[in-house]
Parts: sequence; C-alpha cells; structure tokens
Amino acid sequence: MPSYVVTGASRGLGFEFIRQLSADPAAIVIGLARDKAATEKKVAAEIGRSNIHIFHGDLVDYESLKKAAEDTSKITGGRLDYLIANGALVGSMSAYRSLSDLGDDHKALEDDLLAAYKANVIGNINLINVFLPLIRKGDVKKVVLITSGHADLELVRDIKLYMAGPYAMSKAAMNLAIAKYHSELGSEGILFMSISPGAVQTSGYTDPTGLSGKDKAGLDAMVSGFAKYAPHWKGAIMPDESVKLIFEVINKSSVEGGDGGSFVSHYGNKQWL
Ligand SMILES: NC(=O)c1ccc[n+]([C@@H]2O[C@H](COP(=O)([O-])OP(=O)(O)OC[C@H]3O[C@@H](n4cnc5c(N)ncnc54)[C@H](OP(=O)(O)O)[C@@H]3O)[C@@H](O)[C@H]2O)c1
Repeated sequence: MPSYVVTGASRGLGFEFIRQLSADPAAIVIGLARDKAATEKKVAAEIGRSNIHIFHGDLVDYESLKKAAEDTSKITGGRLDYLIANGALVGSMSAYRSLSDLGDDHKALEDDLLAAYKANVIGNINLINVFLPLIRKGDVKKVVLITSGHADLELVRDIKLYMAGPYAMSKAAMNLAIAKYHSELGSEGILFMSISPGAVQTSGYTDPTGLSGKDKAGLDAMVSGFAKYAPHWKGAIMPDESVKLIFEVINKSSVEGGDGGSFVSHYGNKQWL
C-alpha cells in the first residue's frame, strides 16, 4: 500500500499528481494545500476518490506542516513512502524581469527575494524535516523536489535566461539542500532528488497575451532562448504528460543507482525541454 504526500495539491502539477497517484486504489494519497476546503471540493468534483486526503499545509507556516505530518502519520501508521515537494511560490513580479531591472525598486526586489526564499527554500526544508521520521519508516523512502531548469547554470549561461532571478535562485538553493540531504541521509537508503517538470501549461505558465513592456520582452527572450536550445520544442506540455514522465524518472531512480542528490529533468537527464 504505497503512501504519498504532495504539496501544492490545489492546482497545476500538484493536483495532477494526486489525480494520477490515486488511480491505484491501494495507494494512500495525501495532498497538502493552503486552502483545504476549496481543494477538497475540487477533488470531490473532479476526481472523486476516497483514497485522497487533503490536509492544510502552507510552506510559510511551520505549524501547519508539523500538523500535516502528525495527521499523515495517523492514517499511514507512522510511515510514508514518497514525499513530493511540489508546491512553490511561482508567479511574482520578477517572473520576466532581470535582476538589474528589478534593482530600480530595491525594496520590492528585497521583498521578492525573501518571499521566494521563505516559501521555496525554508518552507521545503521544514517540510522535509517534519516528514523525515515518517520517510525513515517507509518502505520506498523517496523525497523529490519539483525544481526548475531555470536553476541550471549551464542553461542560464547558454541561452541568456536573465529573467526570474529570485525564483530561479530559490530553486538552485533548494537543489543544493537536496544534495546536502543526500550527503547526510543517502546511506540510510533515502533517495533525495530534484526533478524539473519541463515547461508545463499550468497557472505557473503565463499566457503571453496578458503581458506588456519589459515583462513581454522577458517572456519573448525566454521563449526564443528555449527555441534555440531545443529546436524540437513545440511549446509547453500538459500536466498529465509531465507527471507521467516525472514518475518514470522517480521509479527508475535509486540511491544504489547513483541518483541521490541529483538535479535532472522530466527525462531523467539534463535535457530541460
Ligand atoms: N509549470 C511550469 O512550466 C513549471 C516549470 C518549472 C518548474 N515548475 C515547478 O512545478 C511546481 C508546480 O508548479 P505549477 O506549474 O503547478 O504552478 P501553479 O499552478 O502556480 O501551482 C503552484 C502550487 O504551489 C502552491 N503554493 C504556492 N505557495 C505556497 C505555499 N506558501 N505553501 C504551499 N503551497 C504553495 C499553490 O497553492 P495555492 O493554490 O494555494 O496558491 C499551487 O498549488 C512548482 O514547484 C514549480 O516551481 C513548473
């Protein structure tokens, strides 16, 4: 009976994770969401499976994460097989701007950097720490951070990905945290990995018609960089395809196979698109 915890279960990839994982009636699927009631309603209307449990979980609220781990423990018998750290502060005023451009309002930039760091780094470290006792007792022992190709140094350098600095830096910091966890706990057989989902059509993926000025220029630069990097690329994929590919990578990865602490794409390598 595999057990899963997925953060950011309210929408986008997180919602798709709980939809796909709950298709196995033997699975216990726990989604953490900031708005528990709204997510429960959406799950009932759009998925309708009794093996999905939604708990309140906000990455910037340590107590909510602690309580979610306690509640999870009660229904899994103190164990957890998979922790999918998917939730993230994605959209922000810095999504398509450069760091120098954002420097025109240094206070807003500071707030943006701190917000990204607080949710995506401190929040995920707290999340992993409160669920670690359950993971240790699980059979599968896999902790996966959903990260971004924006955090890959070579990609940023090669295609001039100057935009989304605060978000990308928070993902890069968390990728390193995942490698740190592996260095400490890989010998216990716990797999820690960072996996990028590709470019996926979720609310975290902006419709270009809503952008103007420097934001539109930033998005255009990003898309043309993607086209140069991956001429085969046909645009963002759908959440169901991304989640399927991510789980193929999770299933074939292991500490013994040398995957601990790695940072890969939904293809299991450094091909980000
Ligand atoms: N879509 C892409 O192209 C893409 C590309 C690279 C990486 N990613 C990564 O994929 C993951 C999922 O993103 P998505 O595309 O599904 O984006 P999304 O549709 O914007 O969903 C983001 C999710 O994160 C949750 N979240 C935001 N702040 C949170 C907090 N403080 N605590 C807990 N949950 C929080 C949101 O909950 P609310 O509903 O409560 O706001 C929502 O469920 C993220 O880690 C993102 O960085 C996505």
